[in-house]
Amino acid sequence: MKSQGREIILGIGGGVSAYKSADLLRRLSDRGYLISVVPTQSSLNFVGTATWEALSGREVTADLWRNISSVPHISLAKKASAIIIAPTTANLLAKIASGVADDLLTNIVLASKVPLILVPAMHPEMWLNSATVANVQTLRSRGIVVIEPEVGRLTGSDVGQGRYPESSVIIDELERVLSSKADLLGKKVLVSAGGTREAIDAVRYIANASSGKQGYAVALAAAKRGAEVVLVAANSSLPDIEGITTHHVTSADEMLRKLEQEFPTSDVLVMSAAVADFKPKAQHEVKLEKSVFSAIEVIANPDILSTLAAARRQGQLIIGFAAQTGSDGVKMAQAKLVNKGIDAIYFNDVSGGAIFGSDMTEGLLISKDGQITTISPTSKDTLAAILLDYATNKLG
Ligand code: CTP
Repeated sequence: MKSQGREIILGIGGGVSAYKSADLLRRLSDRGYLISVVPTQSSLNFVGTATWEALSGREVTADLWRNISSVPHISLAKKASAIIIAPTTANLLAKIASGVADDLLTNIVLASKVPLILVPAMHPEMWLNSATVANVQTLRSRGIVVIEPEVGRLTGSDVGQGRYPESSVIIDELERVLSSKADLLGKKVLVSAGGTREAIDAVRYIANASSGKQGYAVALAAAKRGAEVVLVAANSSLPDIEGITTHHVTSADEMLRKLEQEFPTSDVLVMSAAVADFKPKAQHEVKLEKSVFSAIEVIANPDILSTLAAARRQGQLIIGFAAQTGSDGVKMAQAKLVNKGIDAIYFNDVSGGAIFGSDMTEGLLISKDGQITTISPTSKDTLAAILLDYATNKLG
């Protein structure tokens, strides 16, 4: 794809991998992008302005107080089609998440409405630090693209997740963001996420390990594509997403009630919640003494997907999930697709705790016409885009 001279701002954070952005810059200009490089002051310890000026063919400044008459952060922010920050340090993630603007780059970010793509690269300890994890969640909930760092060798002998990805990964993401169109405008997308909890007594419950990440990723991606999005979330700790109506529920019965209210006016249902199949027959309002526990008698929960699919009107599209373990997984997922009366099912093998809670996924998208698409290991954001591509295709 030729970029037709689109203007890109390339922010450079202060990390060892800053030199890799020289390759990124080269490849972006090969594709016809016009790039203004905005390094942070600390990044100049790794790569100096001369390199960026030579490669971009433009004057480079890290200084908010130069050319003050033209207010550079405002004019730069206005003319760009997108901002990429690569590498993004943990410090930059924190600053952007909390709206701090104390240099040229962070002022541009705050003054801009264009898509922002962050490319974190740091030591695994910093990437996994709970402060960084929370900042990344906040940024994603605002629609900012945060590319997953790659796993591999870092500075010295360290190994883990934190590596700067290949330039092609960043460029693909940029082109996806720039070409993403509002193809769900006028459509309502209903998404369920998380895992239901079924009360045993005042403090105990039956639950599962679903984090809600996949459902939240679908909701966010649908909103970005112009859909009206309603999210029914069960017990997820993820923050609400701006612009998306989120109903918080606890049990399968509550989830069914909410979905039944929203489904008739929806065009697409993506049922990614992990619904408990059973609930305790008696739900005690007091905390039971442990001496009374010998067994918990359970009764079946409603099958939400089957209930909604049986009531659907023409033109509504339903996608389910099947988290399986064992060698019969694909067959069982296919059976669920048929038995529940839905249009497609995303099968993933969750043996050994894989996928639940992770930012990554892999599996098969099986549609009722027999088409099977293999999804090799990818982010839950990418799977969200794939599911919505499928939905828009089918909706026509
Ligand atoms: N589902 C549902 N209502 C339930 C159970 C599951 O709507 N009571 C939905 C899930 O949200 C998912 C799909 O059905 O989209 C498959 O869920 P899964 O738990 O894999 O299947 P079950 O029907 O519960 O079958 P089993 O647990 O026997 O494998």
